[in-house]
Amino acid sequence: MIVASLSQSLRAYQGEKKEALMLQTMTELKQIFHNDQNHRSEIRRVETYILSLVKEMSEEKHLAGLMHDLQVKDDYTYRHNIGVSIISSMLAKWLNLTDEEINQVTLGGLVHDIGKARIDKNLLTKPGALSNEEYSAIKLHTILGYEFLKEDGSFSKEVCLMALEHHERGDGTGYPHQKKASQISYYSKIIAIADVFHAMTSDRVYRKGLSFYDVLREMKNDSFGRLDPLMIQVFIRKLMNMSIGNRAELNNGLIVEILFIPQEDPINPLVRSHKEFIAKKSALYREAYSLN
Ligand SMILES: [Fe+2]
Repeated sequence: MIVASLSQSLRAYQGEKKEALMLQTMTELKQIFHNDQNHRSEIRRVETYILSLVKEMSEEKHLAGLMHDLQVKDDYTYRHNIGVSIISSMLAKWLNLTDEEINQVTLGGLVHDIGKARIDKNLLTKPGALSNEEYSAIKLHTILGYEFLKEDGSFSKEVCLMALEHHERGDGTGYPHQKKASQISYYSKIIAIADVFHAMTSDRVYRKGLSFYDVLREMKNDSFGRLDPLMIQVFIRKLMNMSIGNRAELNNGLIVEILFIPQEDPINPLVRSHKEFIAKKSALYREAYSLN
């Protein structure tokens, strides 16, 4: 009994600590986005906060906890940048990058959309379809962000490139320069995956976030020539490993527990319902974290 209440208070304490770090990061990030002076000292402070936050979050063993932490309530732009930073950092670690490289990717994720601070806010939150001109104006955030970071002088060349290239796609269908896979930096490819994942799973003013499993399936299909296929493979496998023990709902409404992730087909794991094992590939789930 005492042990249970102690672990409950420890969880509550860790939750509060994470929340405080998240708010602090958000406040610092707003200053960088809206302050035209040199950002060297602010960047150092944000790096301190975000690196602690990432460390806290990467210790999260369960997907349900991670997804919950990524949905902090605030302006989407800041939440998105922090979310992308955390996911990119995890992916960089899973890809065995060095600590210094992971730090670069973490910082790149944090400021990848900084160009949006120079785009009309009404356009960014406009519900419904955009005209060609409006879409072109939004696409400019990549170039504006790159120029802003470069002129500031506090950021490495790699970080600047992540802002410029995170919407480029390997088959040349991305923007702003329609680069092909071999022309896009390795770090930018990491940010692209984290960006797509966080955007698709998040609630927006004009639509609800998609189910986690649907997003992974879509990303797997989309990886064909667009997102880096090897990175996608690692990303899906590692994220699915975090969902072991989670509850999920099958398409037929049955609630199951995820037991085992086959490495060759991680989106179709072995699940259990009422002590019965189910391994049928047709039994696809939707939602997992919302049921926990
Ligand atoms: Fe972007």
